[in-house]
Amino acid sequence: MHDGSVDLKAEARARIYALPIEAVDPAQPDLFAQDAMWPIFERLRAEDPVHHTDSPTYGPFWSISRWNDIMAVDSNHQVFSSADGITLPSLEAKAENEKRGTRPSFISMDPPRHDEQRKTVSPVVAPSNLANMGPVIRERAGQILDSLPIGEEFDWVENVSKELTAMTLATLFDFPQEERQLLPYWSDMMTNSPGHGPVESWEHKRTVLDEMVARFTGLWNERVNAPPAGDLISMLAHGESTRNMDRAEYAGNLGLLIIGGNDTTRNTISGSVYALNKNPGEYARLREDPALIPAMVSETIRWQTPLAHMARTATQDFEMGGKTIKAGDRVVMWYVSGNRDASVIEDPDRYRIDRERPRHHMSFGFGIHRCVGNRLAELQLTIIWEEIMKRFPTIELAAEPSRTHSIFVKGYETLPVVIPTRN
Ligand code: HEM
Repeated sequence: MHDGSVDLKAEARARIYALPIEAVDPAQPDLFAQDAMWPIFERLRAEDPVHHTDSPTYGPFWSISRWNDIMAVDSNHQVFSSADGITLPSLEAKAENEKRGTRPSFISMDPPRHDEQRKTVSPVVAPSNLANMGPVIRERAGQILDSLPIGEEFDWVENVSKELTAMTLATLFDFPQEERQLLPYWSDMMTNSPGHGPVESWEHKRTVLDEMVARFTGLWNERVNAPPAGDLISMLAHGESTRNMDRAEYAGNLGLLIIGGNDTTRNTISGSVYALNKNPGEYARLREDPALIPAMVSETIRWQTPLAHMARTATQDFEMGGKTIKAGDRVVMWYVSGNRDASVIEDPDRYRIDRERPRHHMSFGFGIHRCVGNRLAELQLTIIWEEIMKRFPTIELAAEPSRTHSIFVKGYETLPVVIPTRN
């Protein structure tokens, strides 16, 4: 053992295995922040795949941990509704939301409203639009990489992952590029609770998010009075099923795209550098054969699982795994666990960039809510790696990363690296 983190993980494993199965609770951000939650899911998949927890922090909920059961829930939107929200919020966050009202978005809607709004947003990430965005992403990715220091430690999250995703989102929204850092900042504001990320207090969070809404309202007013254009805000402002959205709904949908397109892709970019460093044999293969980049990207999306879960509410009683999920119960699909289900994925804990079906993972979900931006995410990741390989023989991990303190966004706060030399 070289560092404290290994001890911590071993301790967490022993603690988790010492518990009676009823007491196993997967909703523990501290364990996610230490990457020490894996034994929980190992146990749940093996011993109690449909598992009930009454958490003091998150309230009562069911955990679904096996691939096939997650598929069954995700594909059954009649029984498992998204209308009460798609994450498991803490009781404190829930009370705060109730007090100030939420900003609904189509990810937390059921048909028909979901389908109508999704249809309006989809063209912006359709293949034809992506073909237009590709060269823009490539050019900006090149600029970001060319500005990195050589032979000097820096934070990959701040300097590359955030930059690239912010730049892509600013392009998608036609948001001023010089202010693009506001997008990841707002995303962090939306996903964190006080004391974590940039959020100092609930009041602070409310103030900043009100500023965000005001900014986007201004952009809406600008675009609605201009002829329809290909950016997302214009599409929403002119779209038949979205142009009469109220302010909260508009803000909710933008929030969804900011989070959807931000944290997830950002954490996969960071995850790829981390995973390749932890698996130097795979990194060497990638260098020998850059044609493996798309497969490496998909394997990273599986291995990282940037969103650890999605949640639903049962609309009726439902039998699963010998248990009865009651109407009104909260149900959490742990993608992070489904992606490590050995009955479906061979050798799932290993990071292997040559899998036969690399896109066979659950990180994008299934069914009517399956990630609308999945091809855009893959495109960004593929481009950044093509550009990295042109420039740098290696990116070396300088220290262990610090991780997000969240049971939802599974990612990295910092990832210290060094690039020893250019090609
Ligand atoms: C690696 C990157 C990404 C991951 C892992 C990811 C993951 C997910 C997941 C798990 C869902 C919900 C699926 C379900 O409930 O069945 C989702 C939905 C969604 N994602 Fe992504 N996402 C990524 C990138 C993006 C990007 C780049 C965008 C847009 C720019 C985006 C926009 C959305 C939207 C709008 C939805 C809601 C779809 C609906 O409700 O119909 N995502 N994503």
